[in-house]
Amino acid sequence: MTTVVVPFGLSVQDEALEADVQAGLSAVEEGLLEATKSDVPFIAEAARHLVRAGGKRFRPLLVMLAAQFGDPHAPGIVPSAVVVELTHLATLYHDDVMDEAEVRRGVPSANARWDNSVAVLTGDFLFSKASRILADLGPEAVRIQSEAFERLVTGQILETIGPRDGRDPIEHYLDVISGKASSLTAVSGRFGALMSGADETVVDILTQYGERLGTAFQLADDILDIASDSHESGKTPGTDLREGVPTLPVLHLRSQVAKANGSASADDRRLCELLDGDLTDDGRHAEALELLRAHPALEQARKDTVRYAEEARATLAPLPDCSAKAALAGLCEAVVHRAG
Ligand code: IPE
Ligand code: IPE
Ligand code: MG
Ligand code: MG
Repeated sequence: MTTVVVPFGLSVQDEALEADVQAGLSAVEEGLLEATKSDVPFIAEAARHLVRAGGKRFRPLLVMLAAQFGDPHAPGIVPSAVVVELTHLATLYHDDVMDEAEVRRGVPSANARWDNSVAVLTGDFLFSKASRILADLGPEAVRIQSEAFERLVTGQILETIGPRDGRDPIEHYLDVISGKASSLTAVSGRFGALMSGADETVVDILTQYGERLGTAFQLADDILDIASDSHESGKTPGTDLREGVPTLPVLHLRSQVAKANGSASADDRRLCELLDGDLTDDGRHAEALELLRAHPALEQARKDTVRYAEEARATLAPLPDCSAKAALAGLCEAVVHRAG
């Protein structure tokens, strides 16, 4: 059996829970390798490229922890965790094409290693495999997943087209995140609880928890894109800036500059000028990144991340006290810690 370290260096105080989660995640690894088989060796190679590169397996972990509120060994739990990870993985293949990203999970992205067509079609292949597994989990699981998938794609499209009809850019961005990220973490919490046979109220609580944690997770990831080096994230820092995706720190900066009404500092004006111009230029990109790293807008985005993580933790309150609840609360802290 493959050995899997519990992601996030999450400290689980309960040995039985840790063993359960480890066993579940090992079974997910086997499920991922099984699902990426193909009679065409090239397809298996392309599909396993990012499976083998690792990743945090954050969503399968959520499934496993949520499953502790019912029968954690119920048969639908591991397959539903494989479905969410496969869906996530497929969106990474597609997202790296959209974002022209060169590095993913510390290795060349599929579009960089092969080309855009291979990356898009491999993503489609992974979606097909997720659908196949879902079919055996029944119509409710299919409905839940398809609704989340619609939200996810809507989020990616909203990000691509930008705010319309005078919509506030920060509200628009929160809609984007809710779609592209929170949809799948909400499903992770929901699948774990649902497949374990937990009560409906518990299923709802873990869905809400996943939703809020997903928002905090994406906000933290956006901060990492500015504040980290590639060693930490396994991605190329500053990709959002280069691709002109205005994440929360940039939106806060713009809002602060607008409020200053002409009296913004020289650094702030320079930063806006850089952001408005061509950031595919290496020198301008490095200067913008440096100014943004030192800007209070980054701290403001960190505070927002903490707020969402606290909301996620608060949703857990009605659940019975147990090690799984403590581990889910610990995940909120781990997400905040990531944002620095
Ligand atoms: C990356 O997700 C995309 C976001 C929603 C931020 P992860 O940070 O979970 O990526 P992996 O799975 O660990 O590579
Ligand atoms: C994450 O997109 C959401 C999906 C892949 C659906 P991002 O573009 O924000 O994530 P990274 O930074 O590439 O991982
Ligand atoms: Mg991206
Ligand atoms: Mg993207």
